Amino acid sequence: MSGRWVGLCSVAEVIDSGHAVREIEGRYIAVYHVGGSFYAIADECTHDGGSLDDAAVEGLEVICPRHGARFCLRTGAALSPPAYTPVATYPVRTSGDRLEVDLG
Ligand code: FES
Repeated sequence: MSGRWVGLCSVAEVIDSGHAVREIEGRYIAVYHVGGSFYAIADECTHDGGSLDDAAVEGLEVICPRHGARFCLRTGAALSPPAYTPVATYPVRTSGDRLEVDLG
């Protein structure tokens, strides 16, 4: 698999808290641990730029804490108003005790 994989954070800290947000090369990326899998999305709501850090998660939906837009963690799709544009998603993998994301 090609790509440009970069380290994000430790696996343990995401498992412990359920999520983490890190800045990598000027991009803020939120990673979530749901149902035994990891999902990485841009930490920027497409409605009004709100951070998705500490957003509630229901199943595979993340809910923006500002105005309640929902996004699919797997596809980034905007699932409810007031957001209509998907958030960017990133492939994520484990490498030893670290998580890596593919910045493409
Ligand atoms: S900034 Fe996320 S719903 Fe408004």
